[in-house]
Amino acid sequence: MCGIVAYIGNRNCKDILIGGLKRLEYRGYDSAGIAIMVSKGPKKGGSADVSIEVIKEAGKIKEMEGQAKEARVDGKCGIGHTRWATHGEPTKINAHPHRDCSGKIAVIHNGIIENFEELKSELKASGHRFISDTDTEVLPHLLEKYYDGDLLLAMQRLMGKIKGSGAIVAMSTDSPGEIVGARITSPLIAGVSRDGNFLASDMPAVLEHTRNFIVINDFETVKLTAGKVEIFDKEGKLTSRKPFKANWSIKNAEKSGYEDFMLKEIFEQPYGVKESMRGRLTNGQLHFDELGLTAEKIKDLKKVQIIACGTSYHAALIGKQVIEKWAKIPVEVDFSSEYRYRDPLVDEEYLFVAITQSGETIDTLAAIREARSKGAKVMAITNVVGSTIARESDSVIYTHAGPEIGVCATKTFTSQIIIMYLMGLYFGKIRGSLGIEDYGKIIDELHMIPNKIQNILNRADELKEIARHTFKHKCFLFLGRIFGLPAALEGALKLKEISYIHAEGYPAGEMKHGPIALTDTRTVVVGIMPEDSVYDKILSNIQEVRARKATIFSIISEGDENSKKYADHLFEMPRTIEELYGILSIIPLQLYSYYIAKNLGKDVDQPRNLAKSVTVE
Ligand code: F6R
Repeated sequence: MCGIVAYIGNRNCKDILIGGLKRLEYRGYDSAGIAIMVSKGPKKGGSADVSIEVIKEAGKIKEMEGQAKEARVDGKCGIGHTRWATHGEPTKINAHPHRDCSGKIAVIHNGIIENFEELKSELKASGHRFISDTDTEVLPHLLEKYYDGDLLLAMQRLMGKIKGSGAIVAMSTDSPGEIVGARITSPLIAGVSRDGNFLASDMPAVLEHTRNFIVINDFETVKLTAGKVEIFDKEGKLTSRKPFKANWSIKNAEKSGYEDFMLKEIFEQPYGVKESMRGRLTNGQLHFDELGLTAEKIKDLKKVQIIACGTSYHAALIGKQVIEKWAKIPVEVDFSSEYRYRDPLVDEEYLFVAITQSGETIDTLAAIREARSKGAKVMAITNVVGSTIARESDSVIYTHAGPEIGVCATKTFTSQIIIMYLMGLYFGKIRGSLGIEDYGKIIDELHMIPNKIQNILNRADELKEIARHTFKHKCFLFLGRIFGLPAALEGALKLKEISYIHAEGYPAGEMKHGPIALTDTRTVVVGIMPEDSVYDKILSNIQEVRARKATIFSIISEGDENSKKYADHLFEMPRTIEELYGILSIIPLQLYSYYIAKNLGKDVDQPRNLAKSVTVE
C-alpha cells in the first residue's frame, strides 16, 4: 500500500528520498512527504544542534517535490513516504511523516494500526496532542512516551503495544546519527552501500544506489547508522545476516523511453516469458525438479488447490485447465480472500499453490497461514525474491519477469501462466497422462510463444486504431470460453482498472442466462475466439450479441475468414494449440485496454484507488 524509503550516510538525502519515492509511487500516490535531519552547527556544550524538517503535500509526489526543491533544507539522514490512504482522507495533514508533541521524532508507516483508537485515547488522556485523522500518528507519540535515551528500545517497546500490521521507520533529533525501523507483516528491506544505508518497502526504491539487500523479517527491528545495519530479533537480540545481491538492475526499473511503465512492461513480455522458461525448458527438455516433489508424490496427488487474487487468480484459472487436462489431477481455484474465511479442507495428498506477483498480498498471506496451520505444505509462485510469501512458504517457484512498476499486472501475469503450463506438463509427463506426441507438440509450441507474443506487439498500432474507434462506449463485455475465459476476465479487469469504464468478463455461453439483456448499440463485445474446440459455439454466441446491435471486436486466429463476417473490428493472433491461446489472447487485450485508457487521458501506471501490493485487508 504505502511506500517507505530512508537513508543515512555521507550524501545529501533529499534527492535520494525523492528519487526513491518516485520509484515507489506505484504503491500509493495520494500524498507524499519527507523528513530531513538538519544540522544547525554545534551547540554550546559540543553536541550537535539539529532539527527535523518535514515537507509534505497532498497529491502525487511532484506536488511535494516542488516544495522540497524550493526549501533550503538538506541533510545526510532522512525518511520519505508515499501514501495510499486507509485512515483519514488524503490531505496534507494526514500525509506522513508524522511527529510527536515535541517535534523531535518523525515517523513513517506502511500498514494499519488496528488498536489505534484505544491507543490514541490513552495517549490523549496523558496529554499528547494529535493533529491528523491517521492511525499512524499514535506511533511518534508512543515513541515519545517510551523514549529514554535509546530510540531502538523505544521502538521495541512500541511493537509490544500495537496490533495490526506495519513497516515503521523513525528518527529523532535526540539520536541524530541513526534511523530505526520495525516490521510487522508489511515489507521492509535494508539496502547496504559504501556511501550509506537504506530502508525501503522494496528494492526498486534504492536500486540506483545499491544491489545489496537484507530482508527484515517479521517482528524484527533494525538500526541504521551511516556505516552499519544492525538487525534485532523479536526478543531484541542482535542477529547477523549477510546481504544478498539482487539481479534486478536500475534499467529494469526505469521507463527506457516508453511513455508509461505499463506499455514498457507489456512490451517486455517476450523477454519475461523466455526468462521464466529459462533453465526449465531448454532444447525440448523440461527440467522442473525445483518443484521439490518426488515422482511418487506427484503420482499420489489427489488435488491441487490454488489460491490467488485479481490477475494472479486468472493465471490460476489457466493452471486449473492445463493441470486437469494434461495431468488429470482435479484442481480447485479459490480467491485468497474467500479461502481464508471458509474453513477449507486440507489433506496431505493435496498440493497447495499460492500465486502472487508481489509476494505481499495480505489475503494470500493469510490464506497460506490458514492452510499451513491445517498441515498443508505451500508452494508459492511469485516474482519477488525475499518477499513475505516467498519466505513463509515451504517452497517457491520464481517467475523471472523483472520488476513490475505499473500498478496493472501485465508481464508478471504471462510469466505466471508459463509456470502453470510447465507445471501441467511436468505433472502430465510424470503421471503418464500425456502422450509423448502431445508432450512434444506442447513443448515445441511453448518455445515459439515469445516470438508469437512479439508478433502481436509488432502490430500494436492495429489495436491503437480499434481503441480510437471504440473508446467512447460506456459498456464492454469480454466473452470467452475454455482457455479464452481467463483472458476475457483479465481483459475486463485491465480495462476497468485503467479506464474506469464498466467492463465485464463472462463465459460466452452464459450470456443468454442474463447479461445479454445489457447489450445494445452502446455495448462493445470483445470476443476471444481462436479456432479451438469451442470455436463454433462462441461464433454463435457472438452472432447472438451482434443481433442485439452491439459493436463486435473479435480476437481471432490468423486467417480465420469465417469470423470476419461477424465482426466490426478484428485482430488476428498467430496460430497455436488450444491451451496456449490462453496466454496469446491476453496480449491484444492488454494493449487494447491501454490504448482506450490513453484515449481517455487516464494515468495508466497509477490508476485511482489502486496500489501495487495490497498489504491491507
Ligand atoms: C491487476 C492487479 C491485481 C493483482 C492482485 C493480486 O492488474 O495487479 O488484481 O493481481 O492485487 O496481487 P498479487 O499477484 O501481488 O498477489
